[in-house]
Parts: sequence; C-alpha cells; structure tokens
Amino acid sequence: MDGMRSAPYRFIETHPIAGSLGAGISGVDLSRDLPEAVIAELRAALLAHQVIFFRGQDLTPHQQLAFARRWGDIHLHPFMAGMDDCPEVLEIRKTPADKRNFGGSWHTDQMFSPQPAMGTILYAKQVPSVGGDTMFSNQYLAYEALSDGMKSMLSGLRGVCVGDKKRGGIARMEYNNATIAMKTVEPPKGLQTTSLHPLVRTHPETGRKALYIGSHVHTLEGMTEAESAPLIRFLRDHSARPEFLCRFRWQNGSLAFWDNRCTQHFAINDYPAETRIMHRVTVRGDTPF
Ligand code: OGA
Ligand code: MN
Repeated sequence: MDGMRSAPYRFIETHPIAGSLGAGISGVDLSRDLPEAVIAELRAALLAHQVIFFRGQDLTPHQQLAFARRWGDIHLHPFMAGMDDCPEVLEIRKTPADKRNFGGSWHTDQMFSPQPAMGTILYAKQVPSVGGDTMFSNQYLAYEALSDGMKSMLSGLRGVCVGDKKRGGIARMEYNNATIAMKTVEPPKGLQTTSLHPLVRTHPETGRKALYIGSHVHTLEGMTEAESAPLIRFLRDHSARPEFLCRFRWQNGSLAFWDNRCTQHFAINDYPAETRIMHRVTVRGDTPF
C-alpha cells in the first residue's frame, strides 16, 4: 500500500501523523453531500492509512449519520443506548462523576459480534482542555513483525470473543467495578454476543493479513483459560508496541474514521476533573476470514 501513501489525490490532501498509521485529511467538509469521487478518495486514504482524521467539522448527529451511510449500513451497538432523536448515533460521555471510560482498553469495535463493525466514525463535541487522546495501532504491522514460527502457529487458531457484560479471565475489564453513566440497553433476545474469529484475518479490500486481537478475546477455541492466557497476553502486548501506534489529540470538531479490520484503539482515561462528549456511528462489517 506504500504507493497509495503518496497517491496524488484530486480533492483531498493527506498528512500522515506517524510512521505507522494515521493521516490527517484536509479539503473536505463532511456536512456536505459529497460527490462519489471524493468518497472514493477518502476510501483510498482510509485503506492506505487505516485511520483518517478531520479537523474543524461542524456536524449535527443527522449529518454525521448521513456521512456514515455513504460507507454502508449502520451497525447498532447491542448494549449501548443511542441518542433519543437519532438512535443510530451513540453519545459517549464521561464526566467527573465517572471513574471508568468507554473504550479504555486496546480493542477493535464489537469484536464479539459475528459481523463486527467495519469502521467507526467518532466526532468530538466537547473535549477536555488537555487529555482524552485516543491511540491507534496498526495490526498489519503487528502481524508482519511476528516470526514465521508464530505466524504458522496462529494460522487456523480462533479467538472466543465475548461481549462486555460477560467478560472474565484475561478479558476482564480493568475497571469492572466502577460505574459508567452511559445508558445501556438489554440486547435483543437471541442476539449473538459471543463469536469465534480468526486471530489472523485477511482484509477484504486490501487482501493484507492483520492480527485480530483485542480485549474481547477471552480464550482460544478448544483451549482452557490457563492454556490460552499466555498466548493472548503475548499477542495483546505485542499488538500495541510503540512502533505500531499513533496518538490523536482531539479538538472540538475533530472527527476520526478508523478501519476496525486492521487496527485497534485505546481511549486514554487521563482527565478525571473534566467532561468529554463524543458522537459515534459504526458501519456494518462482514464476517472475518
Ligand atoms: C469507540 C471508542 C474511543 C474514544 O468509540 O469505539 O473506543 O476515544 N472510543 O472515545
Ligand atoms: Mn472502540
């Protein structure tokens, strides 16, 4: 994909923010009904950089939703309640009363679903004066950095991915006992919230292999918790090595769009006395292979 990194775009400009992944995009007003040619360039930039960032956007929830729909159907979060007047948009809110934050571990979105979210579009409404950054990790690089022996051991292995409420063992949430003020809902009866996914997945658009690990991975298929934990621990640590990361500093009006098929992300919880409000839409994905 290196060729795409310097691709001459006609409508947008890209500005990589790290050596590993992540690029700022300029020249686009996301509140507009963008021509297909601009969407095509944004798609090329997303595939080339895994996460793209926009500054200074002014979007209503319905405008953000309209942009998200250009990428596919909307994936609704099974546990979290959407906004009253725009249920497809989830408000992520943390105030000084909350100890825990949403997304405060290395993960990829809704990995517990049989078809996890392809992409997430996160828009900053109110950010702390300092802190509340989000880190991203390039899972193509994480896979490529493994030894041939480890790569062949992982091929064919699947992770048991478990939804937040039932996470235990190595997948236990760091702040399990702390409350989170965001409204949750009971998932529809019969909805699958535990799924098996390959530890190495092939990106359906680029054809590249990426490590597919995150904090939802509970155990490995066919293995006990004790047998799985050391390998999961290694892969989680390995997948977030500093040379695979970028870190995004939000401003009000910033928007990030990441590809959950080849990245993980981590919301940093370092603003105990301030409020952070974000609007989030996720786009439906396909079955990982
Ligand atoms: C998410 C998430 C990160 C953040 O929206 O899926 O993990 O920085 N958010 O709020
Ligand atoms: Mn997330």
